[in-house]
Amino acid sequence: VFLRNYWYVAAWAEEVTHKPLARIFLGLPVMLYRTASGEAVALEDRCCHRNLPLSMGFIEGDDVRCGYHGLKFAPSGDCIEIPGQPQIPPDARVTRYRLLERWGLLWIWMGDPAKVDEALLPQWHYLAEPGWAVIKGNDAKPMPMECGWQLNNDNLLDLSHVAYVHAKTLGGHGTDSSPVTTERRERSVRMIRWMPNLDPIPLWTKYLGQMGKVDRWQITEAELPSHCLVDVGFAPAGTTTIDKGRESAPRMRVMLTATPETEKTSFLFYAQLRNWGVEDHEFTQRFARDSRSIFDEDVVVMEAQQRMADTVPDAPTIDIRSDAPHLAMRRLVEQALEEENAGA
Ligand code: FES
Ligand SMILES: [Fe+2]
Repeated sequence: VFLRNYWYVAAWAEEVTHKPLARIFLGLPVMLYRTASGEAVALEDRCCHRNLPLSMGFIEGDDVRCGYHGLKFAPSGDCIEIPGQPQIPPDARVTRYRLLERWGLLWIWMGDPAKVDEALLPQWHYLAEPGWAVIKGNDAKPMPMECGWQLNNDNLLDLSHVAYVHAKTLGGHGTDSSPVTTERRERSVRMIRWMPNLDPIPLWTKYLGQMGKVDRWQITEAELPSHCLVDVGFAPAGTTTIDKGRESAPRMRVMLTATPETEKTSFLFYAQLRNWGVEDHEFTQRFARDSRSIFDEDVVVMEAQQRMADTVPDAPTIDIRSDAPHLAMRRLVEQALEEENAGA
């Protein structure tokens, strides 16, 4: 089951060029390319003649020519040329999907074209804000994941896992013992965890030197359907609160979204932003390399969960206190699905 009337990240802007890029979104084949003037286009990746993926064909200026019998399609999806035949049948066309290019990402709308709504984009404008160094995750390519998209919401709304999954990289004592609060909003869920008077995590001291006790925080806001913004940081113990002083402390924003490919596979796009050493590009490279394994650690866990759920699909599971935020998000997704089905 997919939520259709939402924006999903289809690609980083630089992935889409004058050569076709083939991807499956929400179970549907899509090909992405740029026209001669550089506008990004998303078309159904299936020729309406005999099913060859159009991505196996050729870009000719603004148009795509199928690599089998040469039908040519405009960016609108309409067939505009059939070799050896002057008439073009009225249903000779492929679906065109709406794309938006924002903050270095291409967002695709796979749902009802009549419901396209830019207001449903998540608040990811931080990607283009001054004062932050941006690392485009996995060298500006999605990480393919052999698991369903909702596991990523679950993962990020329950960061108690940091103490176990990322013990070596983030060293997470405190993340599992401090309680969380859950805020439910119309289209999002927020998880807030405040962790007073702890040792700083190894990743901070490695770059910023030894320091005394700190107060740490983790805030995840997950917006429908799958857009997660994680805010983590720290300050000398006793100098900040959840509402005051966090802005000037060293902090990171991590944006992650899982775009469904099929029911059981997805693309993980992520970006890491930090507000210190912003001009130090060499450090940015090193930081990207060093923190890369954190994301691999999550993917290993989510893929293993999926395999186990497939092995024993009816086995019962239990809930614990720290599940509250992601259970709230699952409910929000359920409600949104019901609304879509009622409107369809
Ligand atoms: S399959 Fe595309 S032209 Fe025949
Ligand atoms: Fe994680």
